[in-house]
Amino acid sequence: MHTHTHTPQIHFHNPKPYKPNLSALKIQPNTNIHNMRIPTIRRFTTPSLTSHHPKSYVSDCRAVLVPHFGGPHVLQLHSHVPLPPLRPHEVLVRARAVAINPLDTRMRAGYGRCLFERLLPLILGRDVSGEVAAVGAAVKSLSVGEQVFGALHPTAVRGTYTDYAILSEEEVISKPDSLDHVEASAIPFAALTAWRALKSTARISEGQRILVVGGGGAVGFAAIQLAVAAGCSVVTTCGSQSVSRLLAVGAEQAVDYVAEDVELAIKGTFDAVLDTIGVPETERMGINFLKRGGHYMTLQGEAASLSDRYGLLFGIPASTAVLLRKQLLYKISHGIEYSWTYMRADKEGLIEIRKLCEAGKMKIPVCKTFPIRQVRDAHEVKERKIVPGKVVLELD
Ligand SMILES: NC(=O)c1ccc[n+]([C@@H]2O[C@H](COP(=O)([O-])OP(=O)(O)OC[C@H]3O[C@@H](n4cnc5c(N)ncnc54)[C@H](OP(=O)(O)O)[C@@H]3O)[C@@H](O)[C@H]2O)c1
Repeated sequence: MHTHTHTPQIHFHNPKPYKPNLSALKIQPNTNIHNMRIPTIRRFTTPSLTSHHPKSYVSDCRAVLVPHFGGPHVLQLHSHVPLPPLRPHEVLVRARAVAINPLDTRMRAGYGRCLFERLLPLILGRDVSGEVAAVGAAVKSLSVGEQVFGALHPTAVRGTYTDYAILSEEEVISKPDSLDHVEASAIPFAALTAWRALKSTARISEGQRILVVGGGGAVGFAAIQLAVAAGCSVVTTCGSQSVSRLLAVGAEQAVDYVAEDVELAIKGTFDAVLDTIGVPETERMGINFLKRGGHYMTLQGEAASLSDRYGLLFGIPASTAVLLRKQLLYKISHGIEYSWTYMRADKEGLIEIRKLCEAGKMKIPVCKTFPIRQVRDAHEVKERKIVPGKVVLELD
């Protein structure tokens, strides 16, 4: 059960009106960094909508802006942020709940600054659950008033911490009736990350053995549920507080990585390892547990961190070199496939995730909710791990 917080509200003092950074328009769209799509930058102008748009259409709305990188105090709730025009394949979602992902707190603190700094102010947030307020001219699968959930790509600049989020038709799908908006918002980004690794990259199948390193987090928990639903047997590592939760959703073994010697406790080899921790120790362990031909996938790819350190010009080739070197090395030494895995919006994945939700086979527990006005408190709580698990912002 998620609890609504009773901590005092933060009062944002006299925020300046949001002015988009037009120098950002110089950035070239759709460059690739190891499957990470760089966002297309566009002007924030008056919305142009189809005949599907609601009668009284809003031209601006509340949004949480990051004007510069720093701690939770940099977050500013503005009440009149202009809405950009909807493109033909886009959907305007009246947000009701948005989950906080580790990427949000990291971006706020400066992760990805090589890409995002020139695009400030940013709107954070990937996940959203709400209802369709308007659709672009080419949208076929959704209509105004539908209850939906979905997630933006990791590099989107206009995120979901806003009353009105804009997603492409591929990034959003009708919400399972069995979930309320808070529950639904916790799922898409994490589950799509797990789906991409296990289903697109490793192509897991019935009867395989899967190891999820760090199964206690949202991505690990989603990965266990996806693999169990696919008929795989799953072994995982987690903190002591997560053991029973992971066994309850079908993990065959959940090893407490603090109390136990993980390498002694886990027996046999695996077809795929999803490493949500991605430090050298878990990487070495994960690779040693793989069968020949197996897949090791880490969530901690180095493209962004190396680019932040050396700039895009040197960071991208440096990270490509690191990745290729490891791929070659592990192919020769262990006969395995090594990859950095990233979340990517995928309609096929969303459809499967929704089906699992409807069947009661996919759920990510929400530990605490905050009203959007308390976004700074919510980031504080998430970042300092004051509550375990998902924190969700509600928009009234
Ligand atoms: N490459 C990508 O595209 C991508 C996408 C998503 C996430 N990531 C990265 O992957 C990592 C994991 O992300 P995440 O979203 O899974 O993180 P998360 O949900 O915040 O989980 C982080 C940790 O919190 C603990 N935890 C979570 N839920 C809990 C609960 N209900 N009860 C007790 N403990 C709980 C777990 O610790 P224990 O293990 O101790 O149980 C877990 O490892 C992050 O570093 C994130 O930045 C990368």
